[in-house]
Amino acid sequence: MRFNGVVVRAPAKVNLQLSVGPVGSDGFHELATVFQALSLFDDVTVKLAPPGSGISLTLSGITQGVPTDSSNLAVKAVALMVKNYELAPDLEIHIKKDIPVAGGMAGGSADAAGVIVAIDALFELGLARDQLEKIAAQLGSDIPFAISGGIAIGRGRGDQLTPALSKGSYHWVLATSNQGLSTPAVYQECDRLREGMNIAQPHISETLMQALRAGDTHALGRALSNDLQAAACSLRPALRLVLDVGQDYGALGALVSGSGPTVAFLVENEEKGLDLTMALSSSGVVAGCSRASGPVHGARVIETL
Ligand code: C5P
Repeated sequence: MRFNGVVVRAPAKVNLQLSVGPVGSDGFHELATVFQALSLFDDVTVKLAPPGSGISLTLSGITQGVPTDSSNLAVKAVALMVKNYELAPDLEIHIKKDIPVAGGMAGGSADAAGVIVAIDALFELGLARDQLEKIAAQLGSDIPFAISGGIAIGRGRGDQLTPALSKGSYHWVLATSNQGLSTPAVYQECDRLREGMNIAQPHISETLMQALRAGDTHALGRALSNDLQAAACSLRPALRLVLDVGQDYGALGALVSGSGPTVAFLVENEEKGLDLTMALSSSGVVAGCSRASGPVHGARVIETL
């Protein structure tokens, strides 16, 4: 081993489209989704610890409501890597969190992705990207994309990825909430709202893919869609107001990110992003606001220790 530790930077995501099909016998919904990785990151440090000290996890940054025990997805990722590759189970993990917690931006998935990439580098396992993504899919549907980054179509549970063609960079304003939403609860609410309806198989919008290929921000803004939005708004009615305020102040498109409650606004450029951030902050309808752009890289080593 050449290093005592590594730091991996892992991105948040927004789903430009989230098409949700019927629920399967495994309790999961068949998805067709388009992910974009955003410049909002968690930094995951994994360091070797003295023999016998076990696995420890510490957090800094946005940490409210994040467990540090074995229920944390990052700790589950360590345990899986240690078991699969018969590694010494003495590791110190530290996560500096900037991604909203339980916000529909895959913060927990980014942390797990960070751990998988860090352990591969630290122990020089030499795993290929698709091997890393396969391991990731065992832990959660959004983790493979946090490893791949960029823009990708996700099928199955959202874990079967195909990179997508896209031109240019897109600017976002993200309106965060004080309280997260539980992903299983949002899917359940989606099923409740759909009761008695015939649900079509999920599909990717050709209009959206065309907008990405052309780098046409206005067309992309119009094509954004999320089948979980109605469910997230049903559980958190205040989100409808947030969506309206953002659109009134010049967003090209707005949608709930993943299972929410973060609302993502697509804007024309950085300046428009600043204007919208000010308007949203002074409106009093959002808890916090941040800006990001995408696509960005997936989880990767930024420092060795
Ligand atoms: O895979 P992940 O742990 O992110 O999924 C969290 C929960 O979200 C699942 O337990 C399930 O209730 C719901 N889910 C779903 N269909 C998917 C992905 C997630 O119903 N395709």
